[in-house]
Amino acid sequence: MKVFITRQIPDQGIKMLREKGYELKIREANSPISKKELISELKNGYDALLSLLTDKIDGDVMDAGLPRLKIIANYAVGFDNVNIEEGKKRNLLMTNTPGPEITESVAEHTFALMIALARRLVESDKFLRAGNYKGWQPMLLLGTDLHHKTLGIVGLGRIGFAVAERAVKGFKMKLVYHDVKPNPDFESQFGGVYKSLDDLLKESDFVSLHVPLLPSTTHLISDAQLAMMKPTAFLINTARGPIVDEFALSKALRDKKIGGAGLDVFECEPSIDCIPDDHLDLKSFDNVVLTPHTASASIEARQAMSRVAAQNIIEALEGRTPPNLVK
Ligand code: GLV
Ligand code: GLV
Repeated sequence: MKVFITRQIPDQGIKMLREKGYELKIREANSPISKKELISELKNGYDALLSLLTDKIDGDVMDAGLPRLKIIANYAVGFDNVNIEEGKKRNLLMTNTPGPEITESVAEHTFALMIALARRLVESDKFLRAGNYKGWQPMLLLGTDLHHKTLGIVGLGRIGFAVAERAVKGFKMKLVYHDVKPNPDFESQFGGVYKSLDDLLKESDFVSLHVPLLPSTTHLISDAQLAMMKPTAFLINTARGPIVDEFALSKALRDKKIGGAGLDVFECEPSIDCIPDDHLDLKSFDNVVLTPHTASASIEARQAMSRVAAQNIIEALEGRTPPNLVK
């Protein structure tokens, strides 16, 4: 069996595949593979493709791998980079890498962003490094607290749940949530209250996004939604960039319609400046904390993703149903 891996990933899954005796080709360049290179590589004939979220897998790419290709195992929780409809037409198995380690890791990063914003961590660090700390002051760099504030969770999948758990058990926050439908289990466990998206935006001190990127969630947060938020509220996005209209966000920050934003993902990634107006660079705002799509970038989580992707490939190539099929 032959497996193509589009870039080096943490080693545990690689070892699992090697132990099965599969022949692996791991691309050496540490940059996204081009469509052209991917197509020409797949034409060499592989049983499995281990793809990354930076690889666009469309019908042309799939065709290049056929008839031999059986599975596309995406090394990510999100799978918006894979055209699922086209894959289904071709009877390809397609999988992602959810798992407890990843869920917890992204939930922790969500809180890292929330705390960094509320307590002005990045500003404080810059202030100190610039030599500006001349002594304790009663009103130096005052931020806000998380405790007893209202957290609005948009999208109540595994990660939304893990964020809720931390909010309630660790930070004594009040919870409101929005999803396609109410979740009585969540309400009884965490006391969260179901709201329309508009009401959630109006009531929350922190709004955290945990929906997948779909046509229905693209620009879910745009001018009208930002205008509903409290002027002190923080928006956190660890999901996918295009869920937030970045130009609208920049305008809302400029006009002080919201209190700040914590962003791990961007609309035109890897660019963090998808904005037609040069004066509205996200980097120019002190009340914005930016991380380069690293919400799952712990050794534990990325190794887990490596194992999960490998297990999906092994199950598929041994003729069983992979555990993390996406449909
Ligand atoms: C990361 O963004 C992932 O989807 O795993
Ligand atoms: C702060 O350092 C305090 O002692 O209150």
